[in-house]
Amino acid sequence: MKKGWKQMDSYDVKDLSLAKDGEVRIDWASREMPVIRLIRERFAKEKPLKEIRVSGCLHITTETANLALALKDGGAEVTLCASNPLSTQDEAAAALVGFGIPVYAIRGENNKTYYQHINAALDHQPQVTLDDGADLVATIHKERQDLIPDIMGGTEETTTGVIRLRSLQNEGGLRYPIISVNDADTKHLFDNRYGTGQSTIDGITRATNILWAGKNVVIIGYGWCGRGVAMRARGLGAHVIVTEVDPIRALEAVMDGYQVMTSREAAKSGDIFITVTGGLNGLDSDHFLLMKDGAIMANSGHFNVEINIPALESMSTGKRRLRPFVDEYAMFDGRRLYLLGEGRLINLAAAEGHPASVMDMSFANQALCVEYLAKNGKGLEPRVYPVPKDIDREIGRLKLFSMGITIDTLTDKQREYLESWEIGT
Ligand SMILES: NC(=O)c1ccc[n+]([C@@H]2O[C@H](COP(=O)([O-])OP(=O)(O)OC[C@H]3O[C@@H](n4cnc5c(N)ncnc54)[C@H](O)[C@@H]3O)[C@@H](O)[C@H]2O)c1
Repeated sequence: MKKGWKQMDSYDVKDLSLAKDGEVRIDWASREMPVIRLIRERFAKEKPLKEIRVSGCLHITTETANLALALKDGGAEVTLCASNPLSTQDEAAAALVGFGIPVYAIRGENNKTYYQHINAALDHQPQVTLDDGADLVATIHKERQDLIPDIMGGTEETTTGVIRLRSLQNEGGLRYPIISVNDADTKHLFDNRYGTGQSTIDGITRATNILWAGKNVVIIGYGWCGRGVAMRARGLGAHVIVTEVDPIRALEAVMDGYQVMTSREAAKSGDIFITVTGGLNGLDSDHFLLMKDGAIMANSGHFNVEINIPALESMSTGKRRLRPFVDEYAMFDGRRLYLLGEGRLINLAAAEGHPASVMDMSFANQALCVEYLAKNGKGLEPRVYPVPKDIDREIGRLKLFSMGITIDTLTDKQREYLESWEIGT
């Protein structure tokens, strides 16, 4: 255990009496997770993860619970901590403890407890790590290097985590192999786009109860998440404006039919601003100066650094909480600006995160990559790897199968044509 931290009990959750409620909700999520269910059934028979210690730093939700139970049925000794202080569903955490999985996560925990929980999950001496944002891997590399010799490999769930890991790799500092689950097609094309698209709108709606129709909605960052949010905001009747720094992504947004302009220009007309860049200060003091009275800001990127909250604090003369996830900032010139969910990913803070149906694919990637690492991890160089293509395609196939959809297969002649260079006009 890291010096100076208090020794945790074998779990730390808000209230174990929430477990019954959590079990029912986990069961409800499992209805929409047929791929994880199939994997869980196979794992239960084959036990491919027998006695492998897995520590996961993930959003503690009912969907994550279904992943954890699949890994446990596969024979793994699973431990979980939160990957965000505001995203834990306390009832899911309690239920998991009831299922014999140590969980260290309490919704609303402060920064100190957040890192105590990460260290408690690491005290279980993982052989495989699961991360969502790379806080677990970063803590191991900064403070717990003694654990590295036992680690076969890890997985990373999200764009921001993969960016951090690639920069660690580029500095020559990455000490064990990590599979970038985010790069799987069955992950980012669905989770980032349709999952974040729907759940971000859901989070903002639950937090504010605003009407979207007719609003000017500014999406900062037109990546996989941004395009999902833009698509769903437009579907609700909003006028969508996109700001970007990448010319190709900006061009895509133009041709998808959105207005594209600089963020300073957009700042003047936006009613609702949503950051999804994975970067720093997408909304900053120059934007706050230009925004209309009543403008609402929310973030759905991984960390709470996409809106410059310290600058907002320093430019305001007062702040009050109007609803659980709505803070009003009184600006020096009398305007009022609204920040949702303290700038943390709003879909998990104010709603329930992604629907189970998309997490089914993301977590199927996680489960099969853990199995892959258990078999092959020790033979891999310490690098960031893509999800093996056959795993990605198999998950796509299983998802379609579970939806009762059958697709065509190439005939031998068609395959031969595609594989040959000789046949032209
Ligand atoms: N809320 C969720 O549940 C959820 C789910 C998946 C991913 N994420 C997170 O969302 C963020 C975005 O993920 P993604 O997969 O869409 O990434 P991405 O790389 O596909 O897209 C990010 C886009 O933002 C643009 N960008 C960067 N800085 C900008 C700036 N200052 N102004 C305007 N545009 C800027 C980039 O050019 C890029 O096109 C990441 O932090 C990721 O980890 C959140």
